[in-house]
Amino acid sequence: MQIFSGLPQVPKELRPQVGQRANQVKQALEAALVERGGAIRQSSLEHVLNSERLDVTLPGRKPIQGGIHPATQTLRDLYAIFAEMGFQVYRTRDVETDEYNFELLNIPAYHPARDMWDTFYTTTPGVILRTHTSPGQIRVMREYCPDPIRVVLPGMCYRYEQVSARSEIQFNQLELMVVGRNITLGDMKGTLNDFARRMFGENARTRLRPSYFPFTEPSAEMDVECFICGGKGCAICKGSGWLEIMGCGMVHPTVLQNGGYDPREFSGFAAGLGPERIALLRHRIEDIRYFWANDVRFLEQF
Ligand code: DAH
Repeated sequence: MQIFSGLPQVPKELRPQVGQRANQVKQALEAALVERGGAIRQSSLEHVLNSERLDVTLPGRKPIQGGIHPATQTLRDLYAIFAEMGFQVYRTRDVETDEYNFELLNIPAYHPARDMWDTFYTTTPGVILRTHTSPGQIRVMREYCPDPIRVVLPGMCYRYEQVSARSEIQFNQLELMVVGRNITLGDMKGTLNDFARRMFGENARTRLRPSYFPFTEPSAEMDVECFICGGKGCAICKGSGWLEIMGCGMVHPTVLQNGGYDPREFSGFAAGLGPERIALLRHRIEDIRYFWANDVRFLEQF
């Protein structure tokens, strides 16, 4: 373009030649530009076609699918076992009163057992989060009295706890309750042994250890032979060969009475077990905090 604009300074006789030559150069440059531009567009198109090619023969990506929480799975296994033995599921409230959670279960305000079951309090006096499913015993008795009872009471319980690998501030429990005429300790033992065999296998061995709960008399703790080491002693059973799986006992006469049943005529047994603890043992999970941490990498393994 500079040459074109400088043409007036070129001597007159050379002008046609210079002009012609400048035109030739201009046309050659324009042609080269068009050609090169085309080539670049073509190669970038080829690149895109190659790199973004859709291979319809590749298997698709699986959409993420929700699953059943391991604690719920264990609860459902437990319902199925107890259903076969004639137990119905009876749900009661998470938000309880001090009266049901403690008083009616034979745990008055001054009772030292209250320390073990400390909980969360609401701003309404006497309204608390339940520390165990046991207050459901009173509710189910008051609903069914004087009929016989055979129920399991599942649900979330809450405790004032230092959270650690072994204890959480919330967890599930499954309570068992049987009330009727002539219910004996033998019935309790038979039912719980049968449960243990259905849950842990035909050859599961169990033992009852004396214990104490204010709402049962006598009270016991049931252990099942460690199904990980077969009773030889390992890290899971801490060398003892036994795993503690539930608390149990004959319903205390005062508790029966609080439910409306005359203890001279009726008797019963009750038990409480922790589904997370069972899931923990079954899957060898070493930290109870995983259950409510909401980490899909944990949850999707079940
Ligand atoms: N409520 C007890 C707890 O939270 C467990 C329990 C023990 C329940 C003995 C019972 C029972 O029904 O008979 O530790």
